[in-house]
Amino acid sequence: MAVAWQDELDAVRGRWVATAAQAPDLAGLRSIEVEALGKQGEVTLLVRKVATIAPEDRRAYGAAAAAVKAHVEQAIEARRHGLERAEIEAELADDSFDETLPAQSILGRNSRQGHSHPLTQVQAEVEAVFTSMGFHVLDYPEVESEFDNFEALNIPGWHPAREMQDTFWLQGGHLLRTHTSSGQVRAMHAFQAPFRAIFPGKVYRYEATDASHEHTFHQLEGLLIDRHVSVGHLLDSMRTLLSAILKRDVEVRLRPGYFPFVEPGFELDVQCQLCGGAGCSACKQSGWLELLPCGLVHPQVLRAGGLDPAEWQGWAFGLGLSRLVMMRFQVPDVRLLLSGDLRWLSQF
Ligand code: DAH
Repeated sequence: MAVAWQDELDAVRGRWVATAAQAPDLAGLRSIEVEALGKQGEVTLLVRKVATIAPEDRRAYGAAAAAVKAHVEQAIEARRHGLERAEIEAELADDSFDETLPAQSILGRNSRQGHSHPLTQVQAEVEAVFTSMGFHVLDYPEVESEFDNFEALNIPGWHPAREMQDTFWLQGGHLLRTHTSSGQVRAMHAFQAPFRAIFPGKVYRYEATDASHEHTFHQLEGLLIDRHVSVGHLLDSMRTLLSAILKRDVEVRLRPGYFPFVEPGFELDVQCQLCGGAGCSACKQSGWLELLPCGLVHPQVLRAGGLDPAEWQGWAFGLGLSRLVMMRFQVPDVRLLLSGDLRWLSQF
């Protein structure tokens, strides 16, 4: 027996499938979806009507109503797909779209452009100068053994020089390196003499911070091992390096300085960049600025590195990279360097 509800279901399905196919745009399609499939939608109500059907027909009705619902859903989905495609095609066909505009203009707002940190910039320049002179650029651990940071550098536990570098101690005799000199003996073991290398990196000191002291800062160590190395060679290498970095011929001078791992040890001063040596407030009227400590590698350190001091000599220096950045960019407070403050960083 043909049942009346079957005709009704067919009619509803036909109507909504046709309506969906003709939806003018996505917004129109959404309201059609609500009218058909929403809580009070016509199709939804038809499905619910199963409760009013004669018990012997219920199973057939339920299946038929579910099929109508599935059909209508499919029709809506198909139309949505078609409309979205058309929208994209219209956008692409629109000549007013200028694909050569930078992305930030398309977004309609300025996105911040990143750049490398001033420390990274200066470090890259120093590395370029040294690699052009045949130096390797090495990377050593920030967590070091007491041996590499102190003992190998002729600073045994009882040595008063330990007091000069307040240390962050870790468990198991490890520490955060207090200077990049901790790489010296590692480098000697890693390379056959003669060799030349620099090793830049972060170092740590357990100390109170102020405008010129920071618990974390950057150094760049230089080490050259060869036969017949002299103070004259060291001095000339430093003059070449600093002229390249400061971009003009510079005058340097050595003063005696004490570091257990060099003998003799020096403080190297550079002629004040601001007054040209005449004396000003930046150089405390002396005409000179203290720039880096250096010296000839101590025989004990060569031995710790497996080198015979009768055959091999060397020079070393510890450049304060943070200090150099401060000099170059006239930064008044070392704590700005690692502050991560974009208001400050975005100037560079
Ligand atoms: N490591 C020393 C420090 O951080 C600096 C230093 C002095 C490094 C003399 C050297 C050197 O290579 O020869 O205080």
